[in-house]
Amino acid sequence: MSRRVVMVSGPNLNLLGERAPEIYGTATLAMHEATVRDILEPAGIDVVHVQSNEESVLIETIHAARGTAEALIVNLGALTHSSWALRDALDIFGGFVVEVHLSNPAAREPFRHLSTIASVVDGSIAGFGGFGYELAAYSVLRHVS
Ligand code: DQA
Repeated sequence: MSRRVVMVSGPNLNLLGERAPEIYGTATLAMHEATVRDILEPAGIDVVHVQSNEESVLIETIHAARGTAEALIVNLGALTHSSWALRDALDIFGGFVVEVHLSNPAAREPFRHLSTIASVVDGSIAGFGGFGYELAAYSVLRHVS
């Protein structure tokens, strides 16, 4: 298996930076990707990042990571609260999975309290804004080293 980590970003995260900055901050998704790259690439770990607003693309991305990536860093956006298909895809992946949320969904609207993926991730980081991506990258580094 190659030393590769796939960062998977769900719907509406392409609008980070302009979308509700009071909740999600002013950093763009490209900046969060750079944070992850800056931590993992010096350790010889490739980072592949896929953002999509389509559930099927996210599922295919996770399938393609099977046997080719050691870990996933996922923020599935609102699909976290509704997608049983993504839950199954992560379960099938079988490798190390870290879930990141910029905000803390548990402290927000009731519909965000349900996570379909909570039982199939190794750990979740929520509520620390962009620092969550840094924490996720370090947890992956610890796992693969
Ligand atoms: C989010 C939280 C989700 O509830 C929301 O739908 C998002 C972003 C976060 O990073 O805080 O799109 O995943």
